[in-house]
Amino acid sequence: MCGIVGIVGRAPVAPLIVDALKRLEYRGYDSAGVATIDHGRLGRRRAEGKLVNLERRLADEPLDGTIGIGHTRWATHGVPNETNAHPHFSGDVAIVHNGIIENFAELRAALIADGYEFSSQTDTEVVAHLVTRELKKELPPVEAAHAALRELEGAFALAIMFRGEEDLIIGARNGPPLAVGHGEGEMYLGSDAIALAPFTNAITYLEDGDWAVIHRDGMEIFDIDGNRVERQKRQSVGTSYLVDKGNYRHFMEKEIHEQPEVVSHTLAHYLDFTTGAAKPFETPFDFAAIDRLSVSACGTAYLAGLVGKYWFERYARLPVDIDVASEFRYREMPLSQKSAALFISQSGETADTLASLRYCRREGVPISAIVNVRESTIARESDGIFPTLAGPEIGVASTKAFTCQLSVLASLAVRAAAARGTITREGEAALVRQLSETPKLINQALKLAPQIEKLARELSLYKDVLYLGRDTSYPLALEGALKLKEISYIHAEGYAAGELKHGPIALIDEKMPVIVIAPHDRIFDKTVSNMQEVAARGGKIILITDAEGARHATVETLDTIIVPDAPEIAAPIVHALPIQMLAYYTAVFMGTDVDQPRNLAKSVTVE
Ligand code: F6R
Repeated sequence: MCGIVGIVGRAPVAPLIVDALKRLEYRGYDSAGVATIDHGRLGRRRAEGKLVNLERRLADEPLDGTIGIGHTRWATHGVPNETNAHPHFSGDVAIVHNGIIENFAELRAALIADGYEFSSQTDTEVVAHLVTRELKKELPPVEAAHAALRELEGAFALAIMFRGEEDLIIGARNGPPLAVGHGEGEMYLGSDAIALAPFTNAITYLEDGDWAVIHRDGMEIFDIDGNRVERQKRQSVGTSYLVDKGNYRHFMEKEIHEQPEVVSHTLAHYLDFTTGAAKPFETPFDFAAIDRLSVSACGTAYLAGLVGKYWFERYARLPVDIDVASEFRYREMPLSQKSAALFISQSGETADTLASLRYCRREGVPISAIVNVRESTIARESDGIFPTLAGPEIGVASTKAFTCQLSVLASLAVRAAAARGTITREGEAALVRQLSETPKLINQALKLAPQIEKLARELSLYKDVLYLGRDTSYPLALEGALKLKEISYIHAEGYAAGELKHGPIALIDEKMPVIVIAPHDRIFDKTVSNMQEVAARGGKIILITDAEGARHATVETLDTIIVPDAPEIAAPIVHALPIQMLAYYTAVFMGTDVDQPRNLAKSVTVE
């Protein structure tokens, strides 16, 4: 999940590398480092913590040189200190790495037996030593790198540089993404096209098993057996500017407030509000012909998929199997040839989701993906994509990507229902009209901010929180708990309200608030019964509902947040807003790093 950069340039590259790393900091922010070669000298600066620490270090001790590599780290092997920060050196070799070398323990043992000394606890350092060992066999740098790559197992994106070679960077990919950027007499390497956007938008993506030999005037790509391979050069649409926070305190706050606009754009991409029909967008499968849909994703994207399951099954009578991708990829699910697979990912790079996609590819079912980053690996490897029009999401906690994923899923469910004949033409028009109200309703929901901020002050005093919901509010309960724990570090659990009495009710006391998400829907009364059970045991209830729900809830609450009345299909999108705001303001009161919470990264490209 680290970010890597390499530049073979014409001017001093250290500032350019730092600029590119800023765009990659979403991939990890445990430490950062840069190495350059300047007149035969290999130099490096590294710093623990965020990139700003590296910038300070470079301001005090600048690095010259027109070739260099850089790294921003999400720690896997070894604590996030300066010693474990990349680049790692071995003799004349400098290296940055994203991923996990799975056979690193045996390689390390063999290298130690050969007399190599390790200065870090990372798996990356074995790669540097392996290349050095090959150089010592008198192999030229390119061949030494190739020989070392053949010994690696696991997932990696690598950039390798050699003292004495001021016009050569080797890039290699097996798993995590790696893009080569083409400039005028300069070449670049980066974890994604956005990192390279200020320099070039001419991009070649390496494929798994590829390694590239990069010089100022061009590059060649080889497969692991050393055969030349051709990869397409594309024009990237990656935005070159660094998105800023505007007048907001955090990206997360800004992204929460962008939701009316981005949800509106996303819905309008799929639905024709004038004719009241789902647009005839291209799908890699026919909704009328499939008998099951298999959905896999991770984290918040998985929870969006779980809401989607209710919609597909309810409106389109289409059975949906949904899994967290880390489980799906290994559970060897038999897939019927009449089924289709759908993956959901903001980044489009999540390792487990990508591995699940590849499993489905091997099973021969049509593959589509709901993605926010259209040039991502998942997008490129799908037969068709359903883009979310959320724009870049910078805050690590997903907000606008989630509601845009919900918007796509709701639109697809309507489209599927129309195709399968499970709704009439009038029914389709009614659902489209109801969805068209969503942006207005979430705009109104944003006005709850002052009440939620006040409530958050109280919530920040607790150590544990329980979220409950039924039907589409069940995934929202899970999402509420996920959002709260990841940014405020308060322990939170989400449960299907009906499961309360099968275990979690034992936890109920006055020290654990219970947040109940319950729009006034077909099973509202059932949820009220669960609230009664909580109240009877002294539990404190925070109810998130609509006006009708507030009127009919016959329990005393610590607070009731009344969201705008929403039609059934729009309700989960509207109710997502108070959940996000509650987590956000609680985290602000807790004083945590809201946009870059500890131990997390925006793009999870390792298992
Ligand atoms: C939580 C969050 C994560 C991501 C998950 C999947 O707020 O953001 O749970 O949803 O890591 O990431 P993508 O959607 O990029 O595959």
